[in-house]
Amino acid sequence: MITLTSVFVDKAGRHILKDVSVELDNRRIGVIGRNGSGKSTFARLLNGLEKPTAGTVRFAGSDDTRDLRRNVGFVFQNPDNQIVYPIVSEDLEFGLKNLKLPKAERQTRIADALERFGIAALAERFTHELSGGEKQLVALAGVLVMRPKLIVFDEPTTLLDMWNARTVKAAIDALDQHVVLVTHDLELLADFDRVILIEGGRIAADGEPASVIARYRETAE
Ligand SMILES: Nc1ncnc2c1ncn2[C@@H]1O[C@H](COP(=O)(O)OP(=O)(O)OP(=O)(O)O)[C@@H](O)[C@H]1O
Ligand SMILES: [Mg+2]
Repeated sequence: MITLTSVFVDKAGRHILKDVSVELDNRRIGVIGRNGSGKSTFARLLNGLEKPTAGTVRFAGSDDTRDLRRNVGFVFQNPDNQIVYPIVSEDLEFGLKNLKLPKAERQTRIADALERFGIAALAERFTHELSGGEKQLVALAGVLVMRPKLIVFDEPTTLLDMWNARTVKAAIDALDQHVVLVTHDLELLADFDRVILIEGGRIAADGEPASVIARYRETAE
């Protein structure tokens, strides 16, 4: 679905990502690595939030950033960075208005997304009054209404307690879309198809979750 070829990202005269080539085509892909290793930079490349200094990022063969934006949704660690409007339903409608969809279509998509995560009752609530877990589900619903093909999550459970983290994990599991999940919570990745380990801006391991996670744990010993 997404192909990175010889990608470098430089910042402040330093390589943050170094010669990364990878094909992301599995349904559930985890990304792990130490703080500062380059995971968020990698994740942001996938929907065009970040541009490569060299190399290409292609969605289904196209390197047009608009194709990345249109097809790849992004869920941030902190839903406060994602929720813009005071009322939940208004917030979900915001991106759909940009797509110039008719009102009936907007309402159907919003109702579907809220239903999907069991948060239909939140539709008319004030976004600033929601709990952390509720906010993260609203942020996820806001991405889902755009009907992306792939959803990238950058540490979506870090700010949540165990229960809300479980709710978000269940919501992720239930998605039809392909998922790339950056996380320090290695347990979330046990049933994933594939895990990528980033070390110092390079892909250090890529494969089956158990073996890649074991390799990552070894580096901490
Ligand atoms: N705008 C910038 N200017 C200079 N360096 C930057 C910039 N943005 C990121 N970096 C550096 O790039 C490196 C990778 O950052 P990145 O946010 O991708 O790491 P990460 O793996 O997501 O870390 P964490 O687990 O802490 O979220 C870090 O050393 C960071 O300081
Ligand atoms: Mg990060």
